Amino acid sequence: MKIIVGITGASGVIYAKRLLEALDKHETILVISEAGKRVIEEELNMSWEKLKDLANEYYDNNDFFSPYASGSNKFDSAIIIPCSMKTLSAIANGYASSLIVRVADIALKERRKLIICPREMPLNSIHLRNMLKLSNLGAIIMLPYQPFTASQKQLMI
Ligand SMILES: Cc1cc2nc3c(=O)[nH]c(=O)nc-3n(C[C@H](O)[C@H](O)[C@H](O)COP(=O)(O)O)c2cc1C
Repeated sequence: MKIIVGITGASGVIYAKRLLEALDKHETILVISEAGKRVIEEELNMSWEKLKDLANEYYDNNDFFSPYASGSNKFDSAIIIPCSMKTLSAIANGYASSLIVRVADIALKERRKLIICPREMPLNSIHLRNMLKLSNLGAIIMLPYQPFTASQKQLMI
């Protein structure tokens, strides 16, 4: 499967790293926002350039000449992990000013799978409204949750 992974500047970039490692049998295309690059360095103590080696392809978040800025270039699913409230809002309002938002916009219009993993605490009504709007459009809203049960221990960070 061809999966686009978008990393934005929300806390919890470890989830994106684990996801890329878990998807090693798939074709992964990675896009990282400028804030995402800063958070990777802050939280993972590694360079974003090193993280991008976990994916098959990489594009800058302002690269609208990337093939994936066009709906004609097929991908199976897109996942934004972690997703900041800024990017969540841009997707919910169709404001495609970055490649990550454009990819999400394409997934919605082409009815492809879109998984959004928002991170914020606490949530205000704007955040909640944006999540509901996207859920109603068919996006899967998946809060990154830390599992605590014994059977899920292997998933724990
Ligand atoms: C260390 C750090 C952690 C942050 N965590 C969050 C967060 O959990 N959720 C969020 O919405 N924004 C968070 N922010 C703020 C976003 O990075 C900021 O709103 C940024 O403009 C998001 O841009 P992007 O969506 O293009 O990545 C954080 C910023 C920093 C520096």
